[in-house]
Amino acid sequence: MMAKKPRIVIIGAGMAGLTAANKLYTSASSKDLFELCVVEGGTRIGGRINTSEFGGDRIEMGATWIHGIGGSPIYKISQEIHSLESQQPWECMDGFSTETKSIAEGGFELNPSILDPVSSLFDSLMDFAQGKLNEPSTCEKLDFYNLAVKALKIFTSNGRSGELSLGSFLRQGLKSYWDAVKDEEEFKGYNTWSKKLLEEAIFAMHENTQRTYTSAGDLFTLDFNAESEYQMFPDEEITIAKGYMSVIEHLASVLPPGLIQLGRKVSTIEWQPEGNKSRQRENGHASRPVKLHFCDGSTMLADHVIVTVSLGVLKAGIDQDSGMFKFNPPLPSFKTEAISRLGYGVVNKLFLQVSPSNEYDVIKGSRNFPFLHMAFHRPDSQLRNEKIPWWMRRTASLCPIYKKSSVLLSWFAGEEALELESLSDEEIVDGVSTTISSFLTQPHKKEESNSQQLCNGNNNVNHVESSDVKFTKVLRTKWGNDPLFLGSYSYVAVGSSGEDLDSMAKPLPEIGSSCESTGIVPPLQILFAGEATHRTHYSTTHGAYFSGLREANRLLQHYHCVEV
Ligand SMILES: Cc1cc2nc3c(=O)[nH]c(=O)nc-3n(C[C@H](O)[C@H](O)[C@H](O)COP(=O)(O)OP(=O)(O)OC[C@H]3O[C@@H](n4cnc5c(N)ncnc54)[C@H](O)[C@@H]3O)c2cc1C
Ligand SMILES: *[C@@H]1O[C@H](CO)[C@@H](O)[C@H](O)[C@H]1NC(C)=O
Ligand SMILES: *[C@@H]1O[C@H](CO)[C@@H](O)[C@H](O)[C@H]1NC(C)=O
Repeated sequence: MMAKKPRIVIIGAGMAGLTAANKLYTSASSKDLFELCVVEGGTRIGGRINTSEFGGDRIEMGATWIHGIGGSPIYKISQEIHSLESQQPWECMDGFSTETKSIAEGGFELNPSILDPVSSLFDSLMDFAQGKLNEPSTCEKLDFYNLAVKALKIFTSNGRSGELSLGSFLRQGLKSYWDAVKDEEEFKGYNTWSKKLLEEAIFAMHENTQRTYTSAGDLFTLDFNAESEYQMFPDEEITIAKGYMSVIEHLASVLPPGLIQLGRKVSTIEWQPEGNKSRQRENGHASRPVKLHFCDGSTMLADHVIVTVSLGVLKAGIDQDSGMFKFNPPLPSFKTEAISRLGYGVVNKLFLQVSPSNEYDVIKGSRNFPFLHMAFHRPDSQLRNEKIPWWMRRTASLCPIYKKSSVLLSWFAGEEALELESLSDEEIVDGVSTTISSFLTQPHKKEESNSQQLCNGNNNVNHVESSDVKFTKVLRTKWGNDPLFLGSYSYVAVGSSGEDLDSMAKPLPEIGSSCESTGIVPPLQILFAGEATHRTHYSTTHGAYFSGLREANRLLQHYHCVEV
């Protein structure tokens, strides 16, 4: 009698799922040992990686950057498959632009004299939070290291260090900064802006960038202690010339046709945490312990499933009222608690194509749209321009995707990102145009005179007239409402910790559970991969990659076919 091969089913054809499939399929020692398949709910592979085209340029709807090339497996693959060069222009092909223009609401270009100290303060506070700032770093006679230490002390003295958020630490740092500089000469106010308001707006601009990096819509919900556990790869950050999808396609290319099944959305995973003594026997063998139920009513048996769906999908699944992605019996409490405590936010990208007939583009070819960084008045400020919609007010930047591109890009996080999904194209164009006219319109000459120290009003040769800018096309991502993702990436929320990320990664049934030792319970029925299961590289493509490898190796090890 022929023994049945163990059947491994991977749920999800994103970075984690395809990495696991690639590893399991290509491990020489596992050849023909398993029956392998990938079931994907969507009609395409890639998951949160989706390279597309807009206005003639290659763009990324999801993952965009390789966050540090030093040691990144994604970088290594892109290099091997020659994806880092292209004839066609691509998003951020010239890296992070250094030719940025920082402008405050009302059209006041910010001088380095006000911009630099606040930016250095913010960077130092972030470095400190991430455990990178170990020695005094000074700027303008200020010792930022000691400022940060002081800000932290104020917290821990409140006895609330366990629930310290990055947001509150940053704001405490800003307060400490103001305390330290308060004896300095009074700056003259500027139109609607005082020096202090400008500093706060610049600080908030950096916070808004941080919201998109982390997907925490509100930095007051982002855990402070976890920041120092998060690992970045060293060296520069780059985008992939031939598109992030080229890496996905490479991973999938070794798999035989039919191994990946598209349009197969799982609704319930039935498993056997207690074992089942009366399990049906087929040819004398116990039947496979896991049963997948699909949305179309079909089912599939498996010995092992690797779940790679997003944390957002898992969160919806443990919510009693949602009919989506259930486990039967339900997941043990250590899992559901980790799933609900961890943070998972919405980040969306907005692409706008500037009309090629724009005067500045054609006639004055050199006057490209600036790499615009925006310092807004607070959303509740009396001084704000009420025509600017609330969902634009926490957008840090609006920049061409490379120097001469006619495609502009803005990143949105949190409530604003969700709102963006529900707006019509016209509402978006209106909102962005209104914002641009507030920022790129030059303030009246007479108002400038008392503000020379802080802002340039007029002598701004490269200025684009906002009335020149017309948009012909809009594209925004909708990760928040897409039922296959329900958000963008995970973060460690206040009240959660790195241990919850480790809990996410634990296979079921739990190792060492009493039944398992008796041999009744089939081991490794449900394994978990995906960005939200990696303790130090969560939220990234390489975190997803590592997690896929980890779970493939767990199964290879279980079947004693570990490669050296
Ligand atoms: C806007 C945005 C920008 C980003 N920028 C970056 C960046 O610059 N750098 C970076 O490193 N990372 C970035 N990320 C994060 C990165 O994209 C993800 O961390 C990574 O792609 C996640 O891979 P994954 O395999 O864990 O999950 P996913 O890609 O989500 O794969 C899971 C798969 O499961 C499928 N699925 C869901 N439900 C079901 C179901 N019920 N049945 C069957 N299949 C199902 C989904 O369709 C999906 O294909 C970004 C993400 C977004 C959204
Ligand atoms: C992927 O990109 C295409 C645009 O090229 C878009 O139509 C599709 O909705 C995107 N998918 C997701 C999940 O964002
Ligand atoms: C155990 O197996 C029997 C026979 O296949 C099935 O009817 C029963 O529902 C199973 N029980 C559990 C808890 O899975």
